[in-house]
Amino acid sequence: MDDRTYGIGELAADLRRIRAESRDEREILSRVRPLARRVAANKAMWLTDRLCQADAEQGFGVHVLHEEPDHTLAIFAVSWLPDRGTAPHDHGTWAVVVGVDGPEKNEFWERTDDRSRPGYAELKKIGEKVFDAEEVLAMPAGTIHSVWNDTERVTISLHIYGQHVNYTGRSHFDPDQRIETTYQLKIQA
Ligand SMILES: [Fe+2]
Repeated sequence: MDDRTYGIGELAADLRRIRAESRDEREILSRVRPLARRVAANKAMWLTDRLCQADAEQGFGVHVLHEEPDHTLAIFAVSWLPDRGTAPHDHGTWAVVVGVDGPEKNEFWERTDDRSRPGYAELKKIGEKVFDAEEVLAMPAGTIHSVWNDTERVTISLHIYGQHVNYTGRSHFDPDQRIETTYQLKIQA
């Protein structure tokens, strides 16, 4: 197969096929992984200057490249400003992230409270890993991570979600203040 023809539209078609064939999250993640790497390796086909623009207030730019009419199977290009990132959060759905340009540091967190107090959450850091271009991070629903761009230039990653994360009711955490809030992304115009 000629990989130079594999872009966002082809990835979206494969996501629809995978979802039609499997309801098992582990299987979906393992099937999406190599496709994410493939589309990242083929960035010349789809990565435009516009997708590298970021929101200074948010610290990163979110560009929606695809979603189904019911907001499922969302594909975002996310551009991270130097020395910026995002606090711990979950997604409310499965997520596959692949590096496209530059390394991004991910920290992983575990919730340690009993979830009985609304707005309250205790988190413990359980690991970290830097993901460079074409490295894939597959996260089952419930995974909590934070992302940081430690470099001095804009980094880009491609994010694939079972559902657009502004429609999942997912959470944002402040581990120091032990606060859980809802997390809505500002989408780049
Ligand atoms: Fe995330």
